[in-house]
Amino acid sequence: MLRALVVSVVAIAASPCRPAEPESSGPAGTESPGTAAPGPAAPARDVDAAPSPASFEGRTIAATMSHSGAEWLTRPEREQEEDPATLHRELALQPGQVACDLGAGNGYHSLRMAAAVGPRGRVVASDLQPEMLALLRERVAAAGVTNIEPVLATQQDPGLPRGGCDVILVVDVYHELAQPEAVLAALREALAPRGRLVLVEFRGEDDGVPIKPEHKMTKAQIRRELEPRGFVLVREFDGLPWQHVMMFGRAAKRPSPG
Ligand SMILES: C[S@@+](CC[C@H](N)C(=O)[O-])C[C@H]1O[C@@H](n2cnc3c(N)ncnc32)[C@H](O)[C@@H]1O
Repeated sequence: MLRALVVSVVAIAASPCRPAEPESSGPAGTESPGTAAPGPAAPARDVDAAPSPASFEGRTIAATMSHSGAEWLTRPEREQEEDPATLHRELALQPGQVACDLGAGNGYHSLRMAAAVGPRGRVVASDLQPEMLALLRERVAAAGVTNIEPVLATQQDPGLPRGGCDVILVVDVYHELAQPEAVLAALREALAPRGRLVLVEFRGEDDGVPIKPEHKMTKAQIRRELEPRGFVLVREFDGLPWQHVMMFGRAAKRPSPG
């Protein structure tokens, strides 16, 4: 397991792929997401596990965003482009809840979630890259926040508490999961009985959203991937500038194996 983790992380750090920045906002010297050549889209792989698929349900899996581009996650323009205040109003987290942040990165959403659930609640912030979790810890310490628990994920296992998440927030992450089948099964197990899995993805139907195609998803594709795997769509919110918000609960029927 340890070897799998180490190899997996090296593969991500060495990836030439950059996050899908808007054309105007890529940091100097990094690949522009608006160009036609985004670099190889091969996902990071766990060599000790089954090989990761290059595609899932007809969709090309995007490369994992490297921690070396983490400053893009806290760029000032993000407030206008993604309107996190509105997203978190829609999430309506309650004091005392357990809120899970899958692919937490450097904690852009985890910190907001921690404020919403308050000192009686907690945030489980899961990420594949130890370097991202180190950046998250720095930001959490600087903010004086004590209710965020960083967790190191593997490609198959997000490390979330079984049946323990009132909400699992997945922002700009799902399209880059190297093992979506395994992670969806784990997320289903992690949801509390009335818990919600909230996917936030750049709109694949909208050419006006200046993000590389493999980092966007259509609503139809999201449903195609989640509904046969034990999730039921309970609510959608279409009021963000660039992203879909799709909220899923556990379907009563368990998906049949295979
Ligand atoms: C584009 S960043 C988004 C970060 C954060 N959600 C945000 O909105 O600021 C994607 C993050 O997902 C993480 N990630 C990718 N695959 C993952 C997996 N299988 N389990 C946990 N984290 C994963 C990456 O390491 C990266 O930090």
